[in-house]
Amino acid sequence: MTRKSKARKASLIAFGVVALAALSCYAEAETSGTADAAVVDSTTEAARAYKQALSTLSYVNAHSRHVASDTSAGSYMPQGYPTSIFSAFLPNIQGQGPIASAMRIVMKLRHQSWIPSFVSDYLGKELGGGRKKDEELQGKAIKVLDLLQHAAELGHQDALYALAKISLFPPNPYFPFDPRLSYHALSSHAANTGNASSQALLGFFHSTGYQHVVPVDQAKAQLYLTFAAHGGHKGAQMSLGYRYWSGIGVAENCMTALAWLMY
Ligand SMILES: *[C@@H]1O[C@H](CO)[C@@H](O)[C@H](O)[C@H]1NC(C)=O
Repeated sequence: MTRKSKARKASLIAFGVVALAALSCYAEAETSGTADAAVVDSTTEAARAYKQALSTLSYVNAHSRHVASDTSAGSYMPQGYPTSIFSAFLPNIQGQGPIASAMRIVMKLRHQSWIPSFVSDYLGKELGGGRKKDEELQGKAIKVLDLLQHAAELGHQDALYALAKISLFPPNPYFPFDPRLSYHALSSHAANTGNASSQALLGFFHSTGYQHVVPVDQAKAQLYLTFAAHGGHKGAQMSLGYRYWSGIGVAENCMTALAWLMY
């Protein structure tokens, strides 16, 4: 009798152990299932935010009449949106030189009271539809940056890269110039993807100390430019060639210079 009950107890325990094991497997499968679902959800969410950012960006680009197409801003710029007579006579506001710089400054300050009203009225009109339109586009530009930031935080690498480029080369006056944000986005993008374009721009930041974002560091510049050049970036190859030719950041070496310049 006692043997029988012992045996029954043992088999009950065995059953219990098997059941527990099965349950815990099931629970594990369940949690990894939800984890997968969460990954899929955030990927979809990131892609949605990125897509919305791009379409809002092209809306802002299309409605900011002032800016001629700027090839340095990359592929997300729609080509050939309308320019006014005003911009046909003056240099591109995104361009270089004292007049373009002065225009950028006036454009930023045009709502200040000490700017003569005929200047601010003129610029306001030139921007299309006056202040209301201006504010709408300003709001949309902020939305673009928010969406890109959101998508980038969810791991969307193209969004991270777009954020970096827009901050470094604002496609129109509604976007703020933010080289610091750009540098940090490029660092993450380069670290995550090994992208040669990001590495080349990081090389540029370190070789020039551009906008005092990072101190001039030719060794770091050399490192990023070398990676970028090996990754096939034309600008980085040219710049390495020049560096070996003139001995910036490296020992002067004519043959290496030629090799990179003719790569
Ligand atoms: C770097 O990444 C961006 C965004 O994904 C892409 O457009 C660009 O072509 C890449 N650059 C290189 C050199 O692969």
